[in-house]
Amino acid sequence: MARKAAPWLPTVLLLALALALGQGGPQAQPKAPSPQAQQLELGKQTYQKHCASCHDQGALVLVGKDPLNRLTRYRTAKGLFDYLTIAMPPTNPGGLKDEEYWALIAFILAENKILPPDVVVGQGNGAQIPIRPPGP
Ligand code: HEC
Repeated sequence: MARKAAPWLPTVLLLALALALGQGGPQAQPKAPSPQAQQLELGKQTYQKHCASCHDQGALVLVGKDPLNRLTRYRTAKGLFDYLTIAMPPTNPGGLKDEEYWALIAFILAENKILPPDVVVGQGNGAQIPIRPPGP
């Protein structure tokens, strides 16, 4: 007599399929760095490569209360960009990519604790990002 072949087989196949599909499903993956974190990383690297030799300490230091008060003369991120792209680094003024200058500015603002959260600094918003000491 013809027996019906394993009635449970379709169920098993479906389960196997569900498992296989599940592999590609949402999983706990390491979060990609935010756009701001990426810009700051580029800024840090660029700073170390092109600026730190002169600006890490002494009269030219760019981080802290007194330097920040000097940096306010540029008024905004765009103002600082305009200065850096014609003046820094002294051996090669304007020689870096725009992207690197903006990243440097983001890095300098972040080090001085005045970078607004979540922004990526650039041509589009540079004029709206003020350089002034934090607080009232
Ligand atoms: C070879 C040394 C040297 C390097 C490298 C250098 N700088 Fe400078 N930087 C100076 C000197 C010297 C001054 C002061 C210039 C002046 O007052 O005319 C200065 C001034 C500045 C100022 C103005 C500070 C103020 O108080 O107004 C900023 C901002 C600045 N540099 C940023 C940078 C950045 C960003 C880099 C990297 C791209 C860089 N510098 C690379 C020597 C250097």
